[in-house]
Amino acid sequence: MIAKIALPRILRIGGGAFKETGQLLQSLGLQAPLIVTDGFFAKRGLANRLSETLKQSGIGVVDIFSGSVPDPTTSSLDAGLQVLKKGTFDCVVGLGGGSSIDTAKAIAILGVHGGKMRGYKAPHQQDIPGLPIVAIPTTAGTGSEATRFTIVTDEETGEKMLCIGLAYLPTAAIVDYELTLSKPMRLTADTGVDSLTHAIEAYVSKLANPFADGFALTAMRAIWKNLPTAYFDPQNRPAREAMMLAATQAGIAFSNSSVALVHGMSRPIGAKFHVPHGLSNAMLLPAVTLFSIAVAKTRYADCARAMAIASDDADDDRATRTLVESLQKLNRQLAVPTPSQYGIAESDWFGSLPTMAKQALASGSPANNPRIPTAEEIEELYREVWKGDSKQ
Ligand SMILES: [Fe+2]
Repeated sequence: MIAKIALPRILRIGGGAFKETGQLLQSLGLQAPLIVTDGFFAKRGLANRLSETLKQSGIGVVDIFSGSVPDPTTSSLDAGLQVLKKGTFDCVVGLGGGSSIDTAKAIAILGVHGGKMRGYKAPHQQDIPGLPIVAIPTTAGTGSEATRFTIVTDEETGEKMLCIGLAYLPTAAIVDYELTLSKPMRLTADTGVDSLTHAIEAYVSKLANPFADGFALTAMRAIWKNLPTAYFDPQNRPAREAMMLAATQAGIAFSNSSVALVHGMSRPIGAKFHVPHGLSNAMLLPAVTLFSIAVAKTRYADCARAMAIASDDADDDRATRTLVESLQKLNRQLAVPTPSQYGIAESDWFGSLPTMAKQALASGSPANNPRIPTAEEIEELYREVWKGDSKQ
């Protein structure tokens, strides 16, 4: 198999890299950025700080669109597009969590190519670029700064659409862990499990390849070691730094391999019940891992060994058993609720299963899972996730 690898042209990684954004844009010949962020970062002054930094670097035209929302929707893009069209911007800078970066990506493509986001939904592949995208993540999670994907919810159908193609790959990213030091505990847990899921799914995916494998294994080892520390001790700089790097590495891994069944099943939960993405991944990860292990035992055992959950000489059976138990234990440690503990009504959950299974399959991600599920098997997994781990 020929691995098709694509990466951002420039990554600046390390504490304080944020202040170098202007210099980075200059080095790319970019002079007129539209900063795309959300109300939270606009209010906290981070977007203004960025704008000031850029102006100090000699960049004259800077504007801020602060209307990105969690789980970006088709209509939330429209407001950003209007701002983009009013100016003469030559690039889009996504500042914030995955939602702001995904919004920036969508605006950068729609602003040049037009149309509605629905027209860009997978399996459509958008390789021809729009405006250059620069990503500045403030969470260690989605890896969106290094991926060729964006996710937008279609408000008419309620579907979380996966959009793929090289056009969504940022030209450059600033990966500065200092931006994550004030992240609340819940967000730290959810985004951290999202990264862990990226790394594991990239490694067991049918599209796995030796290039992505290296990033996946390195990322999962670092996440396993540092996530509890970052969660319980938010100001722990080495743990925050390790999580930030690992999130980007996990993003590189799955962008050049793929995610799989956990993500396929997670998006419909987010779209229907507004469960944060990393949290629905966490609800699913142990059950989907257990479902998938039998057909990719050595790959899953490799994960357990890389994460140092199992010793290097543990056989595959023991290593994979320990992996599932450890993922369940991590969920307890990070206080991951079951869907019912999260507040979802039983009748809503069970009534939505056929639609959620259909949307999961339509996204294409389950087809990359080592064990490809039927719609009935996906529904059965959703039922198991409802019950949750009995020890929770
Ligand atoms: Fe994810």
